Amino acid sequence: EKEGEKTLRSPICCIMGHVDSGKTKLLDCIRSTTVQEGEAGGITQQISASYIPVEHIRERTKELKADAKLNVPGLLVIDTPGHEAFNNLRSRGSGLCDIAILVVDIMHGLKPQTIESINLLRMRKTEFIVALNKVDRLYGWKTCRNAPIGKAMKQQSKDVQHEFDHRVTQIITQFKEQGLNTELYNKNKERGETYSIVPTSAISGEGIPELLLLLIQWAQKTMVKKLTYNSEVQCTVLEVKVIQGCGTTIDVVLVNGVLHEGDEIVGPIHTTIRSLTPHLMKELGGGAYKEIKAAQVIKITAQNLEHAVAGTALYVVKPDDDVEEIKELVMDDMRNVMSRIDKSGEGVYAHASTLGSLEALLKLLKTPPVSIPVCGIGIGPVHKKDVMKASVMREKKKEFATILAFDVKVAPEAQEFADNLGVKIFIADTIYHFLDQFKAYVDNLKE
Ligand code: GTP
Ligand code: MG
Ligand code: NA
Repeated sequence: EKEGEKTLRSPICCIMGHVDSGKTKLLDCIRSTTVQEGEAGGITQQISASYIPVEHIRERTKELKADAKLNVPGLLVIDTPGHEAFNNLRSRGSGLCDIAILVVDIMHGLKPQTIESINLLRMRKTEFIVALNKVDRLYGWKTCRNAPIGKAMKQQSKDVQHEFDHRVTQIITQFKEQGLNTELYNKNKERGETYSIVPTSAISGEGIPELLLLLIQWAQKTMVKKLTYNSEVQCTVLEVKVIQGCGTTIDVVLVNGVLHEGDEIVGPIHTTIRSLTPHLMKELGGGAYKEIKAAQVIKITAQNLEHAVAGTALYVVKPDDDVEEIKELVMDDMRNVMSRIDKSGEGVYAHASTLGSLEALLKLLKTPPVSIPVCGIGIGPVHKKDVMKASVMREKKKEFATILAFDVKVAPEAQEFADNLGVKIFIADTIYHFLDQFKAYVDNLKE
């Protein structure tokens, strides 16, 4: 590395799109893994991430002869579920990434969760590239395994090329209807205003070279400042998971800085890192590390991780730091969410699994024409004490003696308690279902 030249960290790339468009398969194809085949019902139900080293990307893109232009150490990819129930995970993934791949099935075009993904990316002003996947399903497609799509297209018959052109034109129109300009990557002269489409097959690998190269080149060209490595630790909890033999563990995205074994960490939790394991290309291989440098996705084991909250920041305590001050910082994140709560003291209770999903829920409840005031919030399962708090509303406004439980469990004794006290608990795994449920309930009370 040259003197004065800035070191770039790996860009973080989120893969989004409608259910079964081929997000996981595409990742499998890039990593040479078989994760998708092992998924229950072939459906992704969690958020996961892995690191692809630049050597691997260089190998996959060598036919494009772009060797010298790759300056990042690798690419961190976050896979998200496409099923509608997992809006919160898509939201979390899109909130963490620098850049995204939006996967669209060439046979089906834009679908509800494609549009939801577009809106999430737009809201956060995240750049993305469209992978127009499953080109091998065009009738008569001639397989050109792992070839650049430019080369593969030339091998196809006139009929295949016609069908391809026809479908691409239709899909570009569908994007237009969403207010987005898109164009095939090799015809796109206005990158930035017009999003590029790269045709791919996750089964036979055509188009993967262009997809990877475009992604890296775009990130390197437009995000130098954002991608310049910074030694100040910047770390977010991706997921909290119970693993047999390890207890509760957390997966974190380390965006900047270095984490060490033995580091004292503060989030809503306060503990010391027992072990650090990076999520590498081939599952969790290689065991624990003494220290890991950003950008990486890391599994952390430690005590007291039960109260970690996905979507929140983790801070590392340095020798001169005041732990109480750091705890205040953590509370600031929480307060941002709290500020959405109604000061009138009248409203429903909103419960969600993560800070991010709670935010999404609170936002939706305030988006016209909906206007449901919220007077209290909770993260994690609904317990008796939560029911107790919600029951206070009974005397003021009966319809607000309600808990909206989004993607969280309700303890059986809490449900029983609620039934006895006349508190209504709505359980939904997609945010939108609450609105219908709540409206029907209020209408019913008025009659
Ligand atoms: P969710 O995570 O559940 O939203 O789905 P996904 O977008 O990750 O799709 P997944 O990788 O599970 O693929 C869905 C199905 O499409 C599987 O049966 C894949 O084998 C198939 N598939 C994915 N990509 C391709 C492709 O490029 N060509 C063909 N022919 N099939 C594909
Ligand atoms: Mg998947
Ligand atoms: Na699937």
